[in-house]
Amino acid sequence: MILVTGATGNIGSVLVRQLAERGLPVRALTRDARRAVVPSGVDLVEGDLGRPESLSPAWEGVDSLFLLQTGDEDTAAVLRSAGRAGVERVVMVSSLLAEIHPESPIGGGALRGEQTVRDSGMSWTILRPGEFASNALWWARAIREHGVVSAAGGDAGSPVIDPADIAAVAGRVLTERDHEERTYPLTGPAEITPRERVHSIGRVLGRDLVFEELSVEEERERLKQFMPEEVADSLVDIDSDADRGPGVRTTVEDLTGGAPRTFEQWVAEHADSFR
Ligand SMILES: NC(=O)c1ccc[n+]([C@@H]2O[C@H](COP(=O)([O-])OP(=O)(O)OC[C@H]3O[C@@H](n4cnc5c(N)ncnc54)[C@H](OP(=O)(O)O)[C@@H]3O)[C@@H](O)[C@H]2O)c1
Repeated sequence: MILVTGATGNIGSVLVRQLAERGLPVRALTRDARRAVVPSGVDLVEGDLGRPESLSPAWEGVDSLFLLQTGDEDTAAVLRSAGRAGVERVVMVSSLLAEIHPESPIGGGALRGEQTVRDSGMSWTILRPGEFASNALWWARAIREHGVVSAAGGDAGSPVIDPADIAAVAGRVLTERDHEERTYPLTGPAEITPRERVHSIGRVLGRDLVFEELSVEEERERLKQFMPEEVADSLVDIDSDADRGPGVRTTVEDLTGGAPRTFEQWVAEHADSFR
């Protein structure tokens, strides 16, 4: 049995569906089973990663774990609980920032999570995705209501990745044997700037959308409404660095045999969120 955490999220919902379609035994973890929607045949269980004692029902019969870091948990405690219950393998989502900006709060946190997984005594694989295509959902309301997206770093490209590709890689890694003790950086197929992303959404919707460049200071103030100040500061520095280029990695294609999906493909599948 494979336990998928984050099963209602961008990666996990696709992973659950893909594993179920392959006929593999899969269980989806959520904090609220009344809200969660999973394909028929998928076992749905409630638990909170921030309370490892709540996870006992989730571990029953599980040998492999797909693990997100939600920010609520003590990863070491979660893995101890999993190990005691007989879980043998963990595939964890980290972040490409662990490689390209290990000094940043998010990169540093991701590295600490990775070390916990490496020290867990389980068989492990770490996935380090770059920026998600689905982060464009943060713009959905502004696009629906005004057709204007305001952000800084409009010309700083990033090879955003479709979470479905992260799920495809995870599906392979969870069910094949030769990925143990590997750390895989994952990106989309090409660098695309925020300005180009907004125009791409406009093309799919058939609307003229406007990208409005914010100053670094304005962006910092905006982000501070949603996150701690030091995280906002560091994200603004990373996001507005036009030369940061994490670079396109070939790992998705190497591991799945298929080219990673473009940003515009992701938009086409999620167009209703912007209408
Ligand atoms: N966004 C990016 O650009 C980016 C880049 C690199 C890495 N990442 C990493 O990717 C991960 C996010 O993945 P995603 O976008 O697929 O997720 P998401 O769509 O943000 O959804 C979050 C998921 O986590 C679950 N969750 C939250 N708190 C929980 C808790 N205390 N206990 C159990 N489950 C909990 C939620 O489930 P319920 O609400 O159903 O309980 C939900 O399924 C994070 O670890 C992030 O650091 C993101």
